[in-house]
Amino acid sequence: MVYMSNSSAPISPSPRALTQDELKTLVGQAALDYVVRGQWVGVGTGSTVNKFIDALGSIRHEIAGAVSSSVASTERLRALGIEVRDANEVERLAVYIDGADEIDGKGYMVKGGGAALTREKIVAAQSDRFVCIADASKRVPVLGKFPLPVEVIPMASARIMRQFAAMGGQAAIRMANGQPLVTDNGQYLMDVRGLSISDPLAFEAELSQWPGVVTVGVFAFQRAHICLLGTDTGVQTLTFD
Ligand code: A5P
Repeated sequence: MVYMSNSSAPISPSPRALTQDELKTLVGQAALDYVVRGQWVGVGTGSTVNKFIDALGSIRHEIAGAVSSSVASTERLRALGIEVRDANEVERLAVYIDGADEIDGKGYMVKGGGAALTREKIVAAQSDRFVCIADASKRVPVLGKFPLPVEVIPMASARIMRQFAAMGGQAAIRMANGQPLVTDNGQYLMDVRGLSISDPLAFEAELSQWPGVVTVGVFAFQRAHICLLGTDTGVQTLTFD
């Protein structure tokens, strides 16, 4: 069950539709309401989270600091004077704030478009609440249209690609400057097209058992509890049971 509300103040009438960048700014700022003052906050990765990090800078003296899910977010946080600690140094986080590539009606997500899925899942797993921030284009009825990111151990990549082909998916190693992209964890990433993920929990459970899979980009066990969705009429708050 999903509950919706327009909890934020409505934006002033605009003669034009807001750009995707403006929608990201809107939800990035709205996420400040979910940051527990005096505590460490879990911070994700991506262009939407960058807006949140920029907003977080304005309350940096009100939080203990952050646990970050990527080198890129860590650098951005530190540049704003926010202390960043390793995940091992903070036992529990009240809230984790991150974007998504897709989110369905139960708060299940596809993530990893920014290649940070493994650390994102780790930080999400030690957080009491996952607040997803996204523009409205990310809301989907069924996961799978966005190519599914999967982080893999390089020596297993050919076999994993064959396993995806056997289930009707087309997997490709993500490239950067003509070379396989190497993640923050020193592994490869593949993007899989042609999947329709109707049972995200079963899908994530099964693929996580494949030898050589580091992290599958389906976030079902670490789903969102709340989604702040940027729409032309303001921030829509989706609350998932
Ligand atoms: C990073 O690896 C991803 O999980 C991002 O959270 C996701 O790709 C959303 O990114 P944008 O906010 O840039 O769309």
